[in-house]
Amino acid sequence: MTEQQRLHIDRYEKRWIKISIATLFVFAVFVLAAGFAFGFQVPGAYERVNPQTVTDSGAFAEPGLREISPGNYEAYITAQAFFYTPREITVPAGSKVTFYITSVDVQHGFKLQGTNINVMVVPGQVSTLSSTFEKPGEYDFICTEYCGAGHAAMSGKLIVEG
Ligand code: CUA
Repeated sequence: MTEQQRLHIDRYEKRWIKISIATLFVFAVFVLAAGFAFGFQVPGAYERVNPQTVTDSGAFAEPGLREISPGNYEAYITAQAFFYTPREITVPAGSKVTFYITSVDVQHGFKLQGTNINVMVVPGQVSTLSSTFEKPGEYDFICTEYCGAGHAAMSGKLIVEG
């Protein structure tokens, strides 16, 4: 092969290709560290349900708070135009709460103000996220997906008691 037939890559171009590849590795390390070392989580699609029958039986038949073990709660919440059931949840400070939320009609949102809890609530799907609430206070949860005329008024409240 003569010198002319070889693919010529400029010295600087070669350097930037290497830097680009190194950048991908660095980002991959960040993503893995966020997920495994720091516990970042993406809102999960926990399970598929039938929105027409989800409140007939099972956990969503009686939405609300359940204490699984001391300081460890599960909150089952249904969203519908234009309210959440239950509208209000109270836990003691230091509690870990895992939210299970589903919609019985159209797409809604669930954003817990002042926390990183923010998830889409899609009919037919159970969204889940958990968080530990160390600081006493009142946290409003609001609907973040336009769901109709009453969307702006769709809200509820998590009360963390000191
Ligand atoms: Cu429910 Cu917007």
